Amino acid sequence: MSVEDNPVGWDGSAAADAYRHRDMRLAEQLIFPAVLRRLAGRAGPGRLALDVGCGTGAVAMRLAEAGEWAVQALDPSADMLGVARSDRPHPRVSYRLFDGRNLDWLGDGSVDAAVCCLVYCTDPDDGRLAGLTAEIRRVLRPGAPYLLADLNPAATGVAFSTVRHGEPKAVYGDGDTVPTLLRLRDGTTMTGATYYRSLDRYRSFLTEAGFPAPTVDLPTLPADGAAEESPAETRTAPYMILTTHA
Ligand SMILES: C[S@@+](CC[C@H](N)C(=O)[O-])C[C@H]1O[C@@H](n2cnc3c(N)ncnc32)[C@H](O)[C@@H]1O
Repeated sequence: MSVEDNPVGWDGSAAADAYRHRDMRLAEQLIFPAVLRRLAGRAGPGRLALDVGCGTGAVAMRLAEAGEWAVQALDPSADMLGVARSDRPHPRVSYRLFDGRNLDWLGDGSVDAAVCCLVYCTDPDDGRLAGLTAEIRRVLRPGAPYLLADLNPAATGVAFSTVRHGEPKAVYGDGDTVPTLLRLRDGTTMTGATYYRSLDRYRSFLTEAGFPAPTVDLPTLPADGAAEESPAETRTAPYMILTTHA
């Protein structure tokens, strides 16, 4: 797929087909290991983790492989789930279609950890995300972690190796649509629509749902001293990881 003028939405087959082939190197270095580290020691037989907005299943699969988690991997896009089921089947991962808000098949305090990676930025609906966050709070056991990873709102317009969210020098406010360019593994790109929210807005989603204020990590990569020009991700964090507990 080449660069598109009109960003694709996240719930169609075009997005799922393109996202299937995305270049995951930065997420693999900066998000996935940090998420697994924060959950280390919590997995065990029968322990349930949610991957909320699982997309093509990259996080769900890693959770199942890294520990003994039983994983429910949820997404409102049937196309994303189709790719996840075909590319990343695992006996301890169950992929499930849901409405992006309600977790009504899960009892209060019945879940041992929840992860939500690169999801809030793809949903324009604050009300749905507020409802979803409250549901995640409800189903987590007291003390269980909620890890919310997303695009770093302070990094709009920065050209990272595999992603650029927003136009260079543009200033965005809460709710603005931000065209986000993702590099695919074959070197071409796709443009998806994401929605700007400040870090304070993310904090509010969590605290209004009853979570304590999160810790915020802004991971960068170490610079390679031998390289002539170091990539942007050695200076600026492409992603943020918010950690809180029920
Ligand atoms: C950029 S993909 C991220 C997928 C996956 N978490 C990852 O890191 O590879 C965003 C996903 O969030 C899903 N999504 C959008 N709004 C959602 C909501 N309210 N609840 C759950 N998932 C949602 C989309 O369908 C899409 O699959």
